[in-house]
Amino acid sequence: MDILNIENCTIRYQEQEAAVEHVSLSVGEQEIVSIVGESGSGKTTLIRAILGILPPGGTVTEGKILFQGKNILELDETSLQKLRGTEIAMIFQDVGASLDPIRIVESQYRESILAHRKMAKADCRSLEKEMLAKMHLTDPERVMVSYPFELSGGMKQRVGIAMSMTARPRLLLADEPTSALDVTIQAEVVREMKKLREQYETAIILVTHNMGVASYISDKIGVMCKGELVEFGKRDDVIFHPKHEYTKKLLAAVPRLEGKRFAK
Ligand SMILES: Nc1ncnc2c1ncn2[C@@H]1O[C@H](COP(=O)(O)OP(=O)(O)OP(=O)(O)O)[C@@H](O)[C@H]1O
Ligand SMILES: [Mg+2]
Repeated sequence: MDILNIENCTIRYQEQEAAVEHVSLSVGEQEIVSIVGESGSGKTTLIRAILGILPPGGTVTEGKILFQGKNILELDETSLQKLRGTEIAMIFQDVGASLDPIRIVESQYRESILAHRKMAKADCRSLEKEMLAKMHLTDPERVMVSYPFELSGGMKQRVGIAMSMTARPRLLLADEPTSALDVTIQAEVVREMKKLREQYETAIILVTHNMGVASYISDKIGVMCKGELVEFGKRDDVIFHPKHEYTKKLLAAVPRLEGKRFAK
């Protein structure tokens, strides 16, 4: 059963050329789907449309976005708001930077939990601790009483991902959640995300520039080029039998590690 079906979606900003054109893709329950493609190819536009948070001027001019069978584009703002942060969560490239610099982690974490449900302070604390530990932050208690500037980039990113996963969303949209981090930390954070999928049975759409990351984490891979989804299929099919020239180019650029190019 698919959790998300994007059907023939076209998205425009004002009168400009389409930023996303006739894109169709599906995400199964608990599946990890990566979207790879060069800058400006429409990746962010596409996943923002799923949450109904396109920047001003952006509209879906054609197609459907079905989440659990329901067309998100026909929902009113109240129903959309109910989905956001509960059924569908999103992590941005700079979640770290979006933390409030003048409040400790615990206080903003609690606020994000209470935005969606009622919970006693002590229960919030133990839930936060549990989630931070799941993201392998070694000293959750210390992280909770820290200000964002006291944490490294990788730690902040883990806090952000923990916060997004707390409501156990059915679908997590992650827009380059690791690209601001250095390569080894990126790999660790991606590994944690893969584990979270197993524990929480969350489907994930991951936007990444890095075909190596896509190959490691994905069940399916989509490749975008100039607003079009030029390739979409099962991980092994895309990696070992790419159809489009652009996909072949991206694959050829992945460096070999210990003689192997595509780790799993
Ligand atoms: N707020 C906006 N207003 C007008 N045009 C926009 C806006 N945001 C994006 N675009 C245009 O839509 C197209 C797709 O942009 P988008 O940000 O979705 O690409 P992307 O694949 O996420 O790129 P990147 O890898 O750099 O994040 C681009 O041509 C971009 O200029
Ligand atoms: Mg983007």
